[in-house]
Amino acid sequence: MLSFEAAKARLETAGQSHVLQFWSELSAEESSALLEEISLLKPEELLEHCRAAVEAASRHSSADGRLDARMEPVPPEFIGSVRKSDEERLKMWGDEGLLQISQDRVAVLLLAGGQGTRLGVPYPKGMYNVGLPSGKTLYQIQAEGIQKVQELANLKHGCRCTIPWYIMTSEFTLGPTEKFFRDSEYFGLCPSNVVMFEQRMIPAVGFDGKIILEKKNKIAMAPDGNGGLYRALVDNKIIEDMERRGLEYLHVYCVDNILVKMADPVFIGFCVNKGADCGAKVLDKAYPSEPVGVVCRVDGLYQVIEYSEIQPETAELRGPGGELLFSAGNICNHFFTRGFLKEVAEKFESQLKQHVAIKKVPFVDGEGNLVKPTKPNGIKMEKFVFDVFQFSNKFVAFEVLREEEFSPLKNADGAPLDTPTTARRSLLAQHYRWALAAGGNFLDEQDKPIPPKHSMTKNKDPPAICEISPLVSYFGEGLEKLLKQKNLKSPFLLDENEAKNLVQTT
Ligand code: UD1
Repeated sequence: MLSFEAAKARLETAGQSHVLQFWSELSAEESSALLEEISLLKPEELLEHCRAAVEAASRHSSADGRLDARMEPVPPEFIGSVRKSDEERLKMWGDEGLLQISQDRVAVLLLAGGQGTRLGVPYPKGMYNVGLPSGKTLYQIQAEGIQKVQELANLKHGCRCTIPWYIMTSEFTLGPTEKFFRDSEYFGLCPSNVVMFEQRMIPAVGFDGKIILEKKNKIAMAPDGNGGLYRALVDNKIIEDMERRGLEYLHVYCVDNILVKMADPVFIGFCVNKGADCGAKVLDKAYPSEPVGVVCRVDGLYQVIEYSEIQPETAELRGPGGELLFSAGNICNHFFTRGFLKEVAEKFESQLKQHVAIKKVPFVDGEGNLVKPTKPNGIKMEKFVFDVFQFSNKFVAFEVLREEEFSPLKNADGAPLDTPTTARRSLLAQHYRWALAAGGNFLDEQDKPIPPKHSMTKNKDPPAICEISPLVSYFGEGLEKLLKQKNLKSPFLLDENEAKNLVQTT
């Protein structure tokens, strides 16, 4: 444990002596917690962090750092597309992906270190239950997706493959996530193939360059952004772990998209087929101010310009046909080769851009009173996971269909979009479409037929409620043999037991 004198010296070097201003008032327990926190801060890094934060904040409010004038759209020929590809090509990519999976060369990595402030629940977002008939949480849906993809690869190639699941957490999410997985018996996955690790936390800084105290003995810390992944991979020896397991490809995704296709064989196969070391799924932006980053090129290099950093005028630019010029919306689904990750970790991590967010950070004032600021007072610095695209030797973008692949949970119910209700609706609408396509007929509670509806209004529930367990079908595959010409009473839950019943009645 760091001594008081050593902590004092460290903080003096970094110009942060105020952190100890309440020292004489702290209990033994409180002071050791503070010393522990200080022991994790390196004085030179802290000095540089505070300097950089103030500088970045002043740039943030000026036009200097803006990239809008240098942005160009990704040329359409560089975007693979589900919409524009025929069945044969999609099958070829899917087969390639399944082959790689069958050879134990593919893993998934979940970014789950965020605080989920907008959703406003006191537990990690992955534990959220959006109110599906099954009551499944996001984590469970994802875990079952992994199992199903493994099974599809096993069936096709007569193997017993594994898709390891790496989960990046933070100080906020590690404990509860670990407990949740343990209590849920890892949703049937082997615990040794679920690898949780923690990203770093960094202090929030005031406009005067001083780190903010959220309690008399606690520095206001926040995770270092999802681009903290690259440091966390090194800190936790994850690349070595991948190497040991013979993994070559990683599908990285964010926690809140209820339609995420885990280890999507088509996306993986597409990237492998193109010889890419880095790839991103994109979709057509729905409207100019949609809160998604846009994949574009800046000075010829691939990049994502985040929705918080693009100017509204740029987001609204249109092409000759009236379409949005910058339309390649980022859905935070990335592909990386292990080789590329290693290169980033070894050579480029320190060059990753620091993004600034000016936030209201609760703090203790000079008298030790807790203050909830009414206007922004703190600078938070974050790295973004996609900022490595520029270092890739071969980057590819892959356009997917919104109704099949993207419905994020960002806000609490009551907000106009990206809420539990919209997420639940998107999944149920998808499963309803799959069941109709497989030839199922829906009945209401009184056994009266519910007329099928092939195009649905976004803001309404589908005409019948149908939820299909990922353990039965993950991409809509294999449903015909179960549902064709079957009467399905809404609400209909197709889980493994129901699937067995249906097979028996065929
Ligand atoms: C993110 C993307 C945005 C994309 C959108 C799609 C980034 C930086 N932005 O925006 O371009 O259009 O998703 O939904 O990727 N996370 C961590 N550690 C952190 C911060 C976040 O692991 O320190 C994780 C979150 O848990 C989440 C993911 O990163 O799984 C995305 O974070 P979030 O803050 O929700 O990003 P958005 O602003 O929604």
